[in-house]
Amino acid sequence: VTVHRRHAEALDRADALADFRERFVLADQQRIYADGNSLGRLPRETVARLDELVREWGERLVGGWEDWIELPARVGDGIGEVIGARPGETLVCDSTTVNLYKLASAALDLRNEGGAVLVDEDDFPTNRYVLEGIAASRGLELRRMTTAPIEGPSAQDVTREAAAGDVALVALSHVSYRTGALADLPAITEAAQDTGALMLWDLSHSAGVVPVRLSDSGADLGVGCTYKYLNAGPGAPAFLFVRTDLQERMRSPVWGWFGQRDQFRMRARYQPASGIERFLAGTPPILGLTAVQAGLELVLEAGLERLREKAAALTELFLVLHDERLEPLGFRLSTPSDSERRGAHVSVGHEDGWQICRALIERAEVIPDFRPPDMVRFGFAPLYSRFVDVWDAVDRLARLIETGEYRQVSAKSARVT
Ligand SMILES: Cc1ncc(COP(=O)(O)O)c(C=O)c1O
Repeated sequence: VTVHRRHAEALDRADALADFRERFVLADQQRIYADGNSLGRLPRETVARLDELVREWGERLVGGWEDWIELPARVGDGIGEVIGARPGETLVCDSTTVNLYKLASAALDLRNEGGAVLVDEDDFPTNRYVLEGIAASRGLELRRMTTAPIEGPSAQDVTREAAAGDVALVALSHVSYRTGALADLPAITEAAQDTGALMLWDLSHSAGVVPVRLSDSGADLGVGCTYKYLNAGPGAPAFLFVRTDLQERMRSPVWGWFGQRDQFRMRARYQPASGIERFLAGTPPILGLTAVQAGLELVLEAGLERLREKAAALTELFLVLHDERLEPLGFRLSTPSDSERRGAHVSVGHEDGWQICRALIERAEVIPDFRPPDMVRFGFAPLYSRFVDVWDAVDRLARLIETGEYRQVSAKSARVT
């Protein structure tokens, strides 16, 4: 071994973000949590805030709405700082799936003259399904583009696909959920807009870990979730972004009372609120919004540039260790090797990937996840992951293969992978 554990320990000692780990609930110190890209850890502050909110609910009852009603837009502006939006361009509401539906539908209404919807055939399922459904109900073409298996979509891909006929909307993920590839957001946005399409980004795997300059890049629309690197908890509300100058021209397909102008006048007919709040639908989830706020504050305190730098160093260490210890054991790196081109997680392919993933969880106290066909995915969220976690995870993984121990776990499939 040339990269010793001592090297990882030294990186931890020099880590400016090391103290943030203690700000999270660490229920099991032996366990290496490498799935913060799926569900982030619980911040201690969130426990206190939710406790306080529950007390407030008990005491204020319906009177609490006086303050709570502002939360989707107020927490939205906080998310705006993370994704590079201007105030009034971001809301926290609904799920990523529902927000994607709302914004994609609204975008297509704006065009009003057909045109294809362009997606990446390797994108996260919900994105492909939602757009497939929208295209089907409107009689539009869903164009599924093939992109580089590891590097993901490029501006050239978008230009090439647009040459095959009119495209109304391009919807892509900023960071690929499978490979961790980081797309060139400004270049792809420009390529999409050059063809006359609107550009919608899913920032689920970049919000809170990769600095995004959404407004400066001229992006039209965005969505993303808060339970990964923003640590807002299972099912916490998602966010949506609409560029300021598009807002007055767009309408949510869900004409709910929270998106209505002067909501409490209870008018006979729907009239959208001005600004971003027209994209609200129904009563906002205040418990979830409170958790988003607490998680967001930690990210802003740590600073996105520092988080990005540490995430790149953590994945870099994984890559070096992969080449040294995993590749000889039959693993293939399924993540871009250039740190500029990847987000905060890494994937390695192996023909027994599923069984290896289960063995890590059941026998080695390492929690990754599995993405078909053969990828074991490791997310080392920089707010609470240590360099020794990366070293130990690779070490435990290599030992499971070297000893053949992983073959002793059941290869039976599970409902959640
Ligand atoms: C890129 C991407 N979009 C959307 C989602 C999930 O959307 P929802 O929160 O609506 O289930 C995920 C979940 O992991 C994701 O990775």
